[in-house]
Amino acid sequence: MAAERPAVITGVDEVRATAERWRCGGQRVGLVPTMGALHAGHLSLVERCRQECDHTLVSIFVNPLQFGPGEDYERYPRRLEDDLAVLRAAAVDAVFVPSVETMYPPGATTRVRVKAIDEVLEGEHRPGHFEGVATVVLKLFNAVRPHRAYFGQKDAQQAALVERLARDLDTGVEVVVCPTVREPDGLALSSRNAYLGDRERAAARCLFQALRAANQRYLLGERDPEGLRRVMLDVLRAEPLAHVDYAEVVDERSFRPPGRLAVLAVRIGETRLIDNHRLGEPLP
Ligand code: PAJ
Repeated sequence: MAAERPAVITGVDEVRATAERWRCGGQRVGLVPTMGALHAGHLSLVERCRQECDHTLVSIFVNPLQFGPGEDYERYPRRLEDDLAVLRAAAVDAVFVPSVETMYPPGATTRVRVKAIDEVLEGEHRPGHFEGVATVVLKLFNAVRPHRAYFGQKDAQQAALVERLARDLDTGVEVVVCPTVREPDGLALSSRNAYLGDRERAAARCLFQALRAANQRYLLGERDPEGLRRVMLDVLRAEPLAHVDYAEVVDERSFRPPGRLAVLAVRIGETRLIDNHRLGEPLP
């Protein structure tokens, strides 16, 4: 009888053995790290992984280390049964669903820090966030030792940080960054969109509108980062429910100006949303 698909793995030793079996058979192993509450953005990563690798392993772990005090760790959506059904339909080979105790047993005090890039924007507004991301991602890389790992451009600074980490620590993992998947009105898909009430959902369009306005201005020849920033702020400030954490135009490696990556973090009510766009490239 065919094994049930996907295999649901909860232990580190078991996930290591599974991936090793695949690797030793000469097959390419792809990893898609997630925190679950899966949507079409996650599934685009899974799809790309399935196209490029022989085996696809998805991890689902709401990582407490990357949430700050007062953030949404407790209320972060957890929908394991739905997620497993979605991954079964997507024909992934295995799902790694560790507990917090498995990932961080008592006494585990090692933390990974990627300097410089973690000091600005998301790093500045969410102290400790990137240390939590870097630590869990390196742990996943060490456990699975994938050939490739898939991340979304939606979290551009996270993707750049993971690329840096993978190179700096000689992981041998090829980091693949996939395009942002959006709703028809431009809002980037995010598990946190589920927090938005109707009025907030309508207000959340302002992130995309701000990026589009900056893009149009860029295509008309504007290159001054301050000018482009003002265009975004004008759009965001016109939305009464929006509170801007930052709106900048930065370099896509260092995340400091000058550059052509427009990045935004905006709170809509209690919900903090981020988005970005490489100015000059087409937007839907
Ligand atoms: P999570 O928010 O679940 O996202 C998992 C992956 O999906 C990330 O690489 C993210 O950039 C990507 N993603 C999310 N929304 C997307 C969209 N609309 N289009 C394309 N890709 C999208 O990011 C995390 O989890 C965590 O920080 C993690 C990397 C798993 C470490 O805990």
